[in-house]
Amino acid sequence: MSQILKALDAADQALDASLDRLYEFLRIPSISADSAYEGDCRKAAEWAAATLRDIGFDASPRKTIGHPMVVGHKRTGRPGVPHVLFYGHYDVQPPDPLELWNTKPFEPVRVKGPHGDMIVARGASDDKGQVMTFIEACRAILKTEGELPVDVTIFLEGEEESSSRSLVPFLRENKDELTADFCLVCDTGLWDRDTPAITTMLRGIVYEEVIIKAASRDLHSGMYGGAAQNPIRVLSKILAALHDEDGRVTLPGFYDGVKDLPAQVKAEWEALGFDGEAFLGEVGLKVPAGETGRTVLEQITVRPTCDVNGITGGYQGEGAKTVIAAQASAKVSFRLVAGQEPAKVQAAFRDFVTRSLPADCKAEFLSHGASAAIAVPTDSPPLAKARAALAEEWGRTAPVIGSGGSIPVVGDMQRILGIDSLLIGFALEDDQIHSPNEKYELRSFHKGIRSWVRILHALAK
Ligand code: BES
Ligand code: ZN
Repeated sequence: MSQILKALDAADQALDASLDRLYEFLRIPSISADSAYEGDCRKAAEWAAATLRDIGFDASPRKTIGHPMVVGHKRTGRPGVPHVLFYGHYDVQPPDPLELWNTKPFEPVRVKGPHGDMIVARGASDDKGQVMTFIEACRAILKTEGELPVDVTIFLEGEEESSSRSLVPFLRENKDELTADFCLVCDTGLWDRDTPAITTMLRGIVYEEVIIKAASRDLHSGMYGGAAQNPIRVLSKILAALHDEDGRVTLPGFYDGVKDLPAQVKAEWEALGFDGEAFLGEVGLKVPAGETGRTVLEQITVRPTCDVNGITGGYQGEGAKTVIAAQASAKVSFRLVAGQEPAKVQAAFRDFVTRSLPADCKAEFLSHGASAAIAVPTDSPPLAKARAALAEEWGRTAPVIGSGGSIPVVGDMQRILGIDSLLIGFALEDDQIHSPNEKYELRSFHKGIRSWVRILHALAK
């Protein structure tokens, strides 16, 4: 039996044990956005480092100003072999609204789904399950071969879901330790249940919070209504004006630098047969709400967008309260594509809001991140090798795709470490990441492990 087959066999034999380890990881509520879970973030980092040490990595959690990073090395000692950096994140999104979960978010369960068994828990797919596919692949190879086919550094972040404030300083301070030939990122999805994918384009993001203030206190709406400025009304008008009738964003200069898809790429995508109606139908929608004249696939991957992610102001409790609030606020995010500059979009938004303010109103702004869209080469030798390895596992060629989500670390690694990433993941569109009842299919986990076994061997060639 070849080495690859032996390692694949070991991975198959160990699947139940691999799952048990994933459950342990999922039981730690490492919610990075909520300071009440700081201790759990530390625990998750320690758990990951201990798990890596257990398979022979030299690994430890590293202190930062925020949640710890985890860095581990496993070197072959053989000169000339490629050195890969693997990136993933151990932090998860807050689980709320809790009442919409069918089971407890941090008590992973294996349930039957329409396409086989699934693991349900916060982080099952984003990103603990995906991280564990790589670690378990390393375990299987180390068990059967004693060493990995390439030098591997594993780097796990604990603040990915909450604006990564320690990331850039950490990359700068540990540049020598983290620099490798290229990075493998496991935080994206498959094309569909049976087709792997390699993501080479990701949208960027500008995330702004705006607070509009008017009167010095909340007012009785009978006594002051009519004469007093209402910040909720002002905010609503501004937010409503961010899009025109054709679904285009109205900020001046917003589309500057945005290019249309090359005809050839468009044709390739059309050949993939993405069903926009089915995509919307799965979440109870029918009519695409983005820019007129663009396909759903374009709208969710290569067109820039603006979304209001949250809005507050005034009385939110039970029953009626006649009040004019002193302030109202909104969280607004822009997904950016190639050609757009985050700083310009941020400035255009702030300017748009400020210029729209009537007398007696002022606006305050908070930034929750600004990062440009990312493109990595589509024709690099590691990509070709990984693609061949994926084809062996899945029996299908992985298309090179764009994803609407954002993984800013890919850009930071290009800029600071000077390395490109290969983005390969096994999540599915309906994994409900960031939502209640997040799941990872057992098949994603199992074939994810097997895929990495093959990819690591292919990269050594
Ligand atoms: N895993 C996602 C990114 C992703 C989502 C990739 C969907 C491909 C498809 C990641 O954990 C995430 O949610 N990122 C945030 C980044 C933001 C907080 C800067 C996102 O995209 O909203
Ligand atoms: Zn993620």
